[in-house]
Amino acid sequence: MAKKEKFYITTPLYYPSGKWHLGHSYTTVCCDAIARYKRLTGYDVFYLTGTDEHGQKIEERATLAGKTPKQFVDELVDDIKRLWALLDIKYDKFIRTTDDYHVKSVQDIFTKLYEQGDIYKATYKGKYCTPCESFWTPSQLVDGKCPDCGRDVIDAEEESYFFRLSKYKEPLKKLLTETDFLEPKSRVNEMVNNFLSDLNDLAVSRTSVKWGIPVPFDPKHSIYVWVDALSNYVNALGYNNGEENMDFWPADLHMVGKEIVRFHTIIWPAILMALGLPTPKKVYGHGWMLFGGDKMSKSKGNTADPFVLADRYGIDALRYYLLREIPFGSDGTYTDEAFLTRINADLVNDLGNLVKRTVSMANQYFGGTVGKPAAWKCDYTDMADALFAKVDKAMNKYSCSEALEEIFAFVSASNKYIDLTAPWALNKAGETAKLQEVIYNLLEGIRLIAGYLLPFIPNGAERIFKDIGIATPECLNGIKFGDTQCFKVGEGEVLYKRLDIKKELEELSAPIEEKPEEKKVEEKKEEKAEEVKKEISIDEFFNTQLKVAEVIACEKVEKADKLLKLTLKVGDETRTVVSGIAKSYTPEEMVGKQVVLVANLKPAKLRGIVSEGMVLCATDGDKVVLVSPERKVIPGSEVC
Ligand code: MSP
Repeated sequence: MAKKEKFYITTPLYYPSGKWHLGHSYTTVCCDAIARYKRLTGYDVFYLTGTDEHGQKIEERATLAGKTPKQFVDELVDDIKRLWALLDIKYDKFIRTTDDYHVKSVQDIFTKLYEQGDIYKATYKGKYCTPCESFWTPSQLVDGKCPDCGRDVIDAEEESYFFRLSKYKEPLKKLLTETDFLEPKSRVNEMVNNFLSDLNDLAVSRTSVKWGIPVPFDPKHSIYVWVDALSNYVNALGYNNGEENMDFWPADLHMVGKEIVRFHTIIWPAILMALGLPTPKKVYGHGWMLFGGDKMSKSKGNTADPFVLADRYGIDALRYYLLREIPFGSDGTYTDEAFLTRINADLVNDLGNLVKRTVSMANQYFGGTVGKPAAWKCDYTDMADALFAKVDKAMNKYSCSEALEEIFAFVSASNKYIDLTAPWALNKAGETAKLQEVIYNLLEGIRLIAGYLLPFIPNGAERIFKDIGIATPECLNGIKFGDTQCFKVGEGEVLYKRLDIKKELEELSAPIEEKPEEKKVEEKKEEKAEEVKKEISIDEFFNTQLKVAEVIACEKVEKADKLLKLTLKVGDETRTVVSGIAKSYTPEEMVGKQVVLVANLKPAKLRGIVSEGMVLCATDGDKVVLVSPERKVIPGSEVC
């Protein structure tokens, strides 16, 4: 037997720093569908996911929760594994950056790179925020202050190990511009123009971070997160540890969110080049699932909580929504309404009805047994046979949304076929041969639909196979319309129940009780905040003039990856404000938003641009979320 071709797919490693949300589920479900598709089309697949557990942020969160970092991450890892089981994610390996074999391999990699001269020791100079214990480059500062907490920074130096990233500039440029390494293509220019043009060596150790992997030959240094996290992709295969699955390397696909494309397409390939390992075949930078305009960072109430949604509406509903709703590569917005509407429209009305109607007719007209008619012909064979090629084309681009669009176009066509052929009329007129042909064709169509749905909603697809009395196939290659000799159908169960959208919306938005543990963390956070902010009088507060402003134009600030230049309408006035939100918002999504502006702030020059005020944001760990009025108001309105 011919050896199966190998296919290695990975998700990013998730930070266990808070509640798991729908954004994490999005990447993992997409990868799961791709992995399942590849398995079903004859590949030997290795699907890797896991958690990225080191770093200062996690250490801080653990302290706030009154736990050791390891206790803290262990609990969140249990939760994420529970979530993946709930969503029927079939990964082949779950790696944790605290796993012994990973720690050892990271240290071996670091030592090797040091010994061959790709890592060297030097002094790291930068701006340092003492309370956050963080170094920042001048371009990362916002209004000259720490981008995380907004406090003053000082000039400081730290001894650090550096990776000779600059040495790899030319091969990286070739990789990015002359191959299909990075997709979508629209992200290539961004990498080349914003990052490659000014490529410096990279600090890869910190003495200030305690929760990390120690540099083996200089343990007061911790290996800084990216060398630790990125090397998981080879360590999981046994690199430096028996090489058991290294024949899966290079990875076929690293699926990552757009904000971490840089790490995967510049730092990671350079590390691999230094190690003498081949670079991955493809990095796909997908868009974000937005929540009310923001990158989802924390679930609010029951809304968008994957545990609640999967539990309440079933795995199929959640998987289907995640895979179908967001055009692959772009951003998409989650709303409860869109989610519920999708279930009713596609799963209940289209798919559920098609199966139920067909199986009921097979029972009613043929006692449940429908053989292939002797003189069989079908008006929609072409369409059915073309479906596989269409799905395959979409999946070769890793676009689950496009594949599902094709499958559901066929579901609609099948429903139309029922309306056009009107089996009830054929029955009435005694046209049994034609009736048999129609029902057989419909069952064949459903068999193909169920097959092609297997990677996306495996649970529903298997129920459909059971309903039409066909064993679930192990492989999708070569499935042809007209191959079934006889169907013996089941009773015809209701696959998906219609939802009362109004009622569901009310129930989903009902407030939920905070868990006592979460309360404790919030209280501790508040205590911490009080340590640094002194009390002010109401008059002092009212010295700050806050106004609502509308973004009428927005662009990136050159060579500053955190900054956006906003043009704001404030009453009759137009103002320019530079804001450190580029990691969380794209210029396109900013236009039209209303924000809260500190209107009487002294203008300051940032990157040569005079910034006339500051927009308010909430920070949650490393996430920055704009503060906006709850409903649109006239730009220039006072906030008080
Ligand atoms: N730990 C790093 C990745 C290291 S990979 C060696 C990290 N972790 S993360 O938890 O912050 O993000 C992990 C992935 O989840 C990223 O690809 C990110 O884009 C994705 N998502 C987190 N929120 C998201 C949405 N709201 N929408 C879609 N994906 C998002 O970065």
